[in-house]
Amino acid sequence: MSRLKTIEWAGNAVRIVDQTCLPAKLCYEDITTVEVMFEAIRALRVRGAPAIGIAAGFGMYLAVREFPETGSVRDFLTLFEKNIDYLAGARPTAVNLSWALQRVKTRIAGLAEKETSASLKRAVFDEAQAMLEEDRASGRAIGEHGFGLLKDCETILTHCNAGGLATAEFGTALAPVYVAAERNKKLHVYSDETRPLLQGSRITAFELKAAGIPVTVLCDNAAASLLRKKTVDAVIVGADRIASNGDVANKIGTYGLALAARAAQVPFYVAAPLSTFDPSLATGNEIPIEERDDAEVTCGFGRRTAPEGVDVYNPAFDVTPHDLVTALITEKGVLRPPYGEAIRKALQG
Ligand code: MRU
Repeated sequence: MSRLKTIEWAGNAVRIVDQTCLPAKLCYEDITTVEVMFEAIRALRVRGAPAIGIAAGFGMYLAVREFPETGSVRDFLTLFEKNIDYLAGARPTAVNLSWALQRVKTRIAGLAEKETSASLKRAVFDEAQAMLEEDRASGRAIGEHGFGLLKDCETILTHCNAGGLATAEFGTALAPVYVAAERNKKLHVYSDETRPLLQGSRITAFELKAAGIPVTVLCDNAAASLLRKKTVDAVIVGADRIASNGDVANKIGTYGLALAARAAQVPFYVAAPLSTFDPSLATGNEIPIEERDDAEVTCGFGRRTAPEGVDVYNPAFDVTPHDLVTALITEKGVLRPPYGEAIRKALQG
């Protein structure tokens, strides 16, 4: 099954699928400067926690690639640090962004003393490329573990987009669906529309349809009654950040879905690579939640749907407490409660 390349190095630029064009058009954007990369992340042209991390890694290469080959390592490091701080401010919730920047930083810190600025530049590029390839492998492994968990399911429900377009290639929540399809098992996916930016209907439905997987789109407010009817075997979503105790930040609406799944006694799974875990936070209460522009709610996609000047509450994410999560699916296997211990072990080994 050939999948879209969400993000890749295209010789002289970072090529992304511009996700704001979907589903009407499949368009690509070639990004050549760190400023445009910052804007692409902020405007959700590239989005989804793992894809944002990879974009930040390549963004760092764009930031330093014009630095003169003969320039001093000290000047290189000044430019490097400035851009680490700059990109870290693009979006606050998905920890993959700061995780990726920290990885590039650690790689450079391990080299700086003895290298030239030319070889440091190369190292930034290699680290970004390595993160992309590792994410591809993580997606596949999550898919295998998730398939084991879902093998008796016929129908699943997901929220937002945690598919190939949110990652390097394979996805997290949708990865088990793709593995199932490779093995001739077609899971039927219900995809919440996901207000206000409609990642579920614009992006999840787009990529599943392109892959020939049956998908049904529903308004977010239809999910609870669908679950109550017992027509869904499991809910599976991605994550933007998972705290040490297993609390999960994901797209706004995930918490409500988890409550509805619990009420209907439907298992609620979260699929995420270890790069989405934040061991520095004890609980989900500490996760920074991005608040986005009022216009996304009042005038989404160019049509006014609320009166001018009305007050708006528009958090992009919410936190689902760990006790509503049946299991966490990672590239290292399926983690079960109690999560504190399971997460610590997975991150160690
Ligand atoms: O605002 P978005 O579209 O970047 O939000 C994305 C999500 O909430 C995804 O579920 C999450 O990043 C996991 S992607 C594998």
